[in-house]
Amino acid sequence: MESFEKKDKRTHYCGELSSKNIGERAHVLGWCQRQRDLGSLIFIDLRDRTGIVQLAFDDGTDKKLFSDAFGTRAEYVISAGGTVRSRGDGAVNPNMATGEVEIAVDYFKILSTAQTPPFAIVEDSDVRPELRLAHRYLDLRRPDLQNNIIARSKIVKIARDYYAENGFVDIETPCLIKPTPEGARDYLVPSRVHPGKFYALPQSPQLYKQLLMYSGFDRYFQVARCFRDEDLRADRQPEFTQLDLEMSFADEDDIISLNEGFIKRLFEDFMGESIETPFKRMTYAEAMRRYGSDKPDTRFEMELQDISDLVAKCGFSVFAGAVEKGGSVRGINVKGGASMSRKEIDSLVEYVKTYGAKGLAWYKNAAGSVSSSFAKFMTEDEITSITERMGVEAGDLLLIVADENDVVFDALGALRVYVAKKLGMIDKSKFNFLWVTEFPLLEYDKEDGRFYAKHHPFTMPFEEDLPLLNSDPASVRARAYDIVLNGSELGGGSIRIHTTEMQSKMFDVLGIGKEEAEEKFGFLLEAFKYGVPPHGGLAFGLDRLVCLLLGLEDIRDVIAFPKVQNASELLSKCPANADPKTLEELSISVTKEE
Ligand code: AMO
Ligand code: AMP
Repeated sequence: MESFEKKDKRTHYCGELSSKNIGERAHVLGWCQRQRDLGSLIFIDLRDRTGIVQLAFDDGTDKKLFSDAFGTRAEYVISAGGTVRSRGDGAVNPNMATGEVEIAVDYFKILSTAQTPPFAIVEDSDVRPELRLAHRYLDLRRPDLQNNIIARSKIVKIARDYYAENGFVDIETPCLIKPTPEGARDYLVPSRVHPGKFYALPQSPQLYKQLLMYSGFDRYFQVARCFRDEDLRADRQPEFTQLDLEMSFADEDDIISLNEGFIKRLFEDFMGESIETPFKRMTYAEAMRRYGSDKPDTRFEMELQDISDLVAKCGFSVFAGAVEKGGSVRGINVKGGASMSRKEIDSLVEYVKTYGAKGLAWYKNAAGSVSSSFAKFMTEDEITSITERMGVEAGDLLLIVADENDVVFDALGALRVYVAKKLGMIDKSKFNFLWVTEFPLLEYDKEDGRFYAKHHPFTMPFEEDLPLLNSDPASVRARAYDIVLNGSELGGGSIRIHTTEMQSKMFDVLGIGKEEAEEKFGFLLEAFKYGVPPHGGLAFGLDRLVCLLLGLEDIRDVIAFPKVQNASELLSKCPANADPKTLEELSISVTKEE
């Protein structure tokens, strides 16, 4: 191993070299992808973040260099210089960006040796994720992951530029804060100086960005780190990043069109394609009715259809009973779904049960033969009315759920996407953006027997719905909106409350008493006294945005050091025990250990 000197400085990145450079001197730095020893010839594929170039050693090469090249193994770190030359006929590698050229090496230095890594550094690795994450620094050498992380950096740059050009001021908000209620659990940080007291890590910069509006910054933007102690899924991490913004003197249309402008810019500058704006808008109520979801994937149809009126008096007690109890009976028509076997349909039944449905009724119209789980309980006329309503043709499969509305929507909304994926109905080349608007202000929690704010308690209700706030809270709409891309919630925001009266009313409805409100949000209520502009904002989930633009499924692939399902990080192995002295300083005693 040798030291890194001035003469080792890079002139080109590996992936940049092409036939245009033939005859030039080039000095490259990188990792050995592989070494091939053909006796009198040695080739080394050298890799850096831009790609791979071939280093060539032959009879003409200095003996010492030739023997160093002979001893080079995968992942050695190399400094090499030489003349770029054509590979000549027959040796060109069309699968490699630099496949027409190679470097005839006359300078070669091993800067660092390497053990055989636990997995090969190749694209599309099928190595177990746990092993890759435990050696994330090696995993991140893989070109596909490296490109994801570089793409993320480009997207952030475009965002910063776009919002700055539109007058947004980039302001950092604190990470040690008082808990902000956003629905998830907080991560707590103990205070040494104030024994028994805790900070929370922000679930989002929500309150601070509102305060910045009160201060007159007018337009705020931040690439903000957020922390939420919630159950992880493929599109969720305990710490993640938002592109977060807030603007004063703005209504929904201003916020929506400004952010459409960002997406448009992103498509032009990053994806290299144009996208049509404005995006479609749909109210929450319509999204639920048509798709059973507040984040509908509109790349395919298969909309929900309500057949409650047709079955209210039928002989099948499951259907009639659901309607009688105030629920509904709805279904989807899976075009071509009759090709599914009985076993496959049974697996769909199991699938909807995970969404709380008690069962799934089906009607299959395979060429010439009809079968069904419920036809025997109904008259021919009733069946005809259902199949007509649902537009059944040969080859179709009807899937029907009867239950209370929430369950029906949840189960069918999820089933619709599940079936579409299974049957390959989704056009993966589409980017369907959609604004979902007019969310309910409140959400009833059966377990706790009370209402919670659906977005957060600072969201403004529709003025015309205010009279319902006490009589029928569930039907009050919020001035909240989500931006949805291909069935994923990409971002969300709202117009905020900006008066003491409204905010106090909201706390009332949420069952937050005067004392609790004072204790938790006193500073906000106090601030309302000194002149607060009308304002609103939005936050995009950056990780999801990058993930979806790159056509990936798992946000871990766009995060350099992600956490796994149980919220641990396998590389550094955290969370970890704290040493007793530290705990003592923090006045903390641990009552239970893993
Ligand atoms: P919300 O809670 O909807 O709104 O979050 C905004 C967006 O952040 C992303 N997101 C996540 N991404 C990865 N992992 C997670 N655990 C996670 N949780 C949320 C989603 C989501 O749409 N303060 C408000 C915004 C506002 O009102 O301006 C807020 O945080 O893409
Ligand atoms: P059963 O009479 O329980 O054998 O049910 C007959 C059919 O109705 C079966 O295919 C069940 O899966 C289906 N089923 C049961 N409960 C429901 C429900 N709540 N919604 C839709 N279908 C159901």
